Amino acid sequence: MHPEVHLYEVGARDGLQNEADVVTTAAKLELLDRMAAAGLRQIEVTSFVSPKWIPQLADADDLVARLVRRPGVRYSALVPNLAGWERFAGSGLDVAAFFVSASESHNRKNVNRSVADHLEGFKPVAAAALEAEVPLRCYVSTVCGCPYEGDVPVEQVLALVRSLLELGAAEISLGDTIGIGTPRQVRALVEAVAAEVPLERIGLHLHDTYGRALANVEAGYEAGVRHFDSALGGLGGCPYAPGASGNVATEDVVDLFERSGVDTGVDLDALVDATSWVEKSLLGRPLPGRVYRARLGERERAQREEAH
Ligand code: HMG
Ligand code: MG
Repeated sequence: MHPEVHLYEVGARDGLQNEADVVTTAAKLELLDRMAAAGLRQIEVTSFVSPKWIPQLADADDLVARLVRRPGVRYSALVPNLAGWERFAGSGLDVAAFFVSASESHNRKNVNRSVADHLEGFKPVAAAALEAEVPLRCYVSTVCGCPYEGDVPVEQVLALVRSLLELGAAEISLGDTIGIGTPRQVRALVEAVAAEVPLERIGLHLHDTYGRALANVEAGYEAGVRHFDSALGGLGGCPYAPGASGNVATEDVVDLFERSGVDTGVDLDALVDATSWVEKSLLGRPLPGRVYRARLGERERAQREEAH
């Protein structure tokens, strides 16, 4: 059976790019395998960005060379420019993900150039990807607000969406990078973007800084979106968006939908196992995911009762 909503797991990329400690390649490989084993079918593995800018993902080439791929899983990685594409091209990954911000200041902080120059640099990447028949996922960041500029006009988002579609974007992921959006705002944004690109090609990438990510997922679903980005345990954040916190937690999204009778194809228990492993063996700090924490509590209570 095909799931009714499609989750795109970003914990290994958006999550680990934002950790103070660098996780070993072997541990990343185990994490990626645990994600696939839990039923996640779209997994962002890493980024082919500059290792000087994101040292946490400097092992991208080695990681991807050693990745044992599970059948039925679409693996992707971030590609910011032609140098990134050259690294991606030999990787055997399924989807290349480009990113650009709807606000000029965040784009400059993130990729060291203007939106126009960044799009110019994307043109040869897009041409090469189309030639190689690699689908392009394109993130538009800061769609609900910018850490440097504040409000971002919807028209700015739409203009960027149009440019990306012209260049061959297969999917558009709308990024609330700083998690400031409200359900009403997300609904209006989705309606506006859906006038440019069919809903089945729109994803939502919602950070949880202000605690509204899950409400925004629900608003997006009601507006017709069926693709959601999320991260195990609520990992994540953009190093070039100060104050931004993690993505909506995968467990929260799975539980929200499954309890509403909407199939996600993901095994919540296996996710909780994976996140518990990340917490204990990888990062050594508690992760914020609400459903994850609730499920852990249930497990601990059950164990205590069994021991009595
Ligand atoms: P730059 O320093 O302007 O690059 O960085 P450059 O083109 O001037 O080149 C400088 C040096 O970097 C050269 O090497 C290049 O070869 C090298 P040198 O000659 O000095 O030895 N270089 C590269 N090396 C490896 N891979 C590459 C690459 N490109 C150049 N791809 C650049 C420009 C875009 C590379 C840099 O700014 C960068 O890597 N930025 C990435 C920032 C990033 O990863 N941010 C987080 C991801 S986006 C995000 O989290 C938001 C998202 O989750 C959605 C949302 O939440 O909204 C997606
Ligand atoms: Mg993000």
